[in-house]
Amino acid sequence: MENMKNYLNMPEIDLGDVMLRTIKKSDFKDMYEYGSDPEVTKWLSWGPMHRIFEAKKSIKEVFLPRIKRGLPVGYAIVYQANQKMIGTIDFHAKLVTRNAAEIGYCLNRNYWGRGIMTKALKKMIEIGFDDLGYDVIVIKHLHDNIASKRVIEKCGFKFVSQMPYAYQKAHGKLEGMLMCYELNKEAYHGDSSRKGNI
Ligand SMILES: CC(C)(COP(=O)(O)OP(=O)(O)OC[C@H]1O[C@@H](n2cnc3c(N)ncnc32)[C@H](O)[C@@H]1OP(=O)(O)O)[C@@H](O)C(=O)NCCC(=O)NCCS
Repeated sequence: MENMKNYLNMPEIDLGDVMLRTIKKSDFKDMYEYGSDPEVTKWLSWGPMHRIFEAKKSIKEVFLPRIKRGLPVGYAIVYQANQKMIGTIDFHAKLVTRNAAEIGYCLNRNYWGRGIMTKALKKMIEIGFDDLGYDVIVIKHLHDNIASKRVIEKCGFKFVSQMPYAYQKAHGKLEGMLMCYELNKEAYHGDSSRKGNI
């Protein structure tokens, strides 16, 4: 993959039923569809969105400025059959002292349970280590978010710590035990079973 250091030009990635491409402003309607679903945002620090303006604002003020922080904008997950934008997966934070980055993700409920996020996360791990050059990839989920826990486990992350978490959202409070996981590049490259088949 060329030009991966040029975060503005992250390549499109074909994963079969879905593809990954950089999030763009025109994704706001599809983002609002899942962002306004309380089941989707139950374990997230944002949402549910109540007005479509919130999706526009999220793309403009959360995703697009990532470039200024030395991170790619983030990938939209697009369902190939209908070209619908059904979710996001992205490096949303950098831990500079460890050359590490943290991944987050979210998917439209109509597409849950088909292995889409596991496939997308495996690809993001490969991009993070092999193209963006991170040494460690970090990921977290709230204890009771079982689907996210499974995705993380299936992608080979190792549990490292947990801490109590509480956050006052715009609509409701989020609390629980935050489960923290890591994967480092040596472990990743040493275990070829996690790669491929995507
Ligand atoms: C978490 C999320 C991204 C998973 O996406 P997905 O494409 O459905 O995930 P996959 O299909 O790849 O894998 C889901 C796994 O969780 C399992 N799972 C889902 N709900 C479960 C439950 N209630 N109990 C046990 N296992 C469950 C599935 O069976 C599957 O595991 P398996 O392959 O071993 O059977 C999706 O549910 C989502 O967007 N949730 C809302 C946003 C969110 O929570 N983001 C993460 C914040 S940390």
